[in-house]
Amino acid sequence: MASVHDCTLHRIRHVHDERGSLVVIEAGRDVPFEIKRVYYIFDVPTHSSRAGHAHRALCQLYIAISGSFDVVLDDGRERRRVTLNHPDEGLLLGPGIWREIVNFSGGAVVLVLASAYYAEADYIRSHDAFLAAVAAGAFP
Ligand code: TYD
Repeated sequence: MASVHDCTLHRIRHVHDERGSLVVIEAGRDVPFEIKRVYYIFDVPTHSSRAGHAHRALCQLYIAISGSFDVVLDDGRERRRVTLNHPDEGLLLGPGIWREIVNFSGGAVVLVLASAYYAEADYIRSHDAFLAAVAAGAFP
């Protein structure tokens, strides 16, 4: 059963010297799924929220490459709030987790690495439908 506690934080390789910082993510090495898609969310008004859905099969890594935001996770039984505010830290999210991204700082950028191409059929966009899917054992 999908759990908010399976959504783990990962340190990403980070090279720092007097010229600044560099973070590197290599497909097949640094992320536990094949990366098929990359997108980013920016220019989010402070009181706005993003996501507000669950996925049936998609795995994702969320990274705050600039600024900060909170990810509110919900597995249908428990909620957990994770703050992302380091460009060398990624939050791993699997299927069966309702997520909402809130509390955006100015200039925040959410980088998302995803395991599949965009497919609307993979989304559950109603929280009631999500709870029904959890109750039906859709996320073993
Ligand atoms: P949406 O899923 O609502 O964004 P959020 O992550 O905040 O829930 O996506 C906004 C719009 O962008 C929606 O019309 C679908 C489209 N979209 C794509 O075409 N491809 C993508 O990879 C993503 C993530 C969204």
